[in-house]
Amino acid sequence: MARSLLWTGVAFASQAAAACTRASLQEVTAAYLQAQASGKPSLLPLGANVTYLENDATVDIAKGLLTQAIAIDFNRSLYDTEACAAFTELTAATNKHPYVIDTKFLLADGKITHVESVIADDGDWLFNAKNHLTYTSKESWDPIPSAKRDTRAVIKAAGDAYLDSWGDGKVPVPYGTPCARLEGGIYTGDKTPTTNTCKMPEFPQPFKIVKRSYVVDEEGGAVAIFNEFPFIDKTKPNGTASVNFVRVEGGKIRYIHETTVCATKNCGR
Ligand SMILES: *[C@@H]1O[C@H](CO)[C@@H](O)[C@H](O)[C@H]1NC(C)=O
Ligand SMILES: *[C@@H]1O[C@H](CO)[C@@H](O)[C@H](O)[C@H]1NC(C)=O
Ligand SMILES: *[C@@H]1O[C@H](CO)[C@@H](O)[C@H](O)[C@H]1NC(C)=O
Repeated sequence: MARSLLWTGVAFASQAAAACTRASLQEVTAAYLQAQASGKPSLLPLGANVTYLENDATVDIAKGLLTQAIAIDFNRSLYDTEACAAFTELTAATNKHPYVIDTKFLLADGKITHVESVIADDGDWLFNAKNHLTYTSKESWDPIPSAKRDTRAVIKAAGDAYLDSWGDGKVPVPYGTPCARLEGGIYTGDKTPTTNTCKMPEFPQPFKIVKRSYVVDEEGGAVAIFNEFPFIDKTKPNGTASVNFVRVEGGKIRYIHETTVCATKNCGR
């Protein structure tokens, strides 16, 4: 009796600690994709004080990109039940105005409290939505079977090591073999698909990505790191809006997608 009461207590405690269900995050992500596809932000379950950012700028959600109907060719999403957050990367290659858009949401009590999008289009870093669609749709980011899942800590550390290595080439990065990077519309895994083509050289010093936020999904085996990328855009020395979306399998990086916004064409490079 005492034991069963104890277990009931534990079950309640862990339910209370679980910030969100996967199903609720999937529902909100589907609603977002529907809202963007139809240009109707009213389809979103928005909280009273929702914050909405497009490429780091605060925008009125009723006037932003969500009011444009965008034909979505492909999407890939992460559900972070611990942080009560979701992430989706959509590729709109056949839309009249092509885009690749990385968005994260935060939820509380089933309502969206924060939306943040990194919106790439023509002129952004290596942008080519057609190529993005070709390569992302060929990749396999299937759910990781439960016995093979990495912990949040391992997934997050793999992504962080990759970003840290740009400033310090001695940081060990758990690249897998193979590993492929989709950077804008450039794919490193094209010519030698069975090797690790993800390795990134050091950037000129000093270089450090200070501002980072994360959406982590153990079942999806991936992390999306929203960050301010310094150096690349000469007009934005403190950093430009960027996302690194990293798939990890057995502790090793399998795929990396980078979406980076430029203030000037191709960041002036
Ligand atoms: C998003 O992708 C899923 C499959 O992964 C698909 O079922 C769904 O229709 C897509 N949503 C949109 C709006 O394209
Ligand atoms: C929204 O913001 C207003 C003004 O800051 C505050 O009074 C209100 O309590 C907030 N509502 C919620 C649901 O957080
Ligand atoms: C960069 O950051 C520094 C320190 O916060 C600030 O003083 C400077 O104005 C920023 N520069 C730009 C171009 O935003």
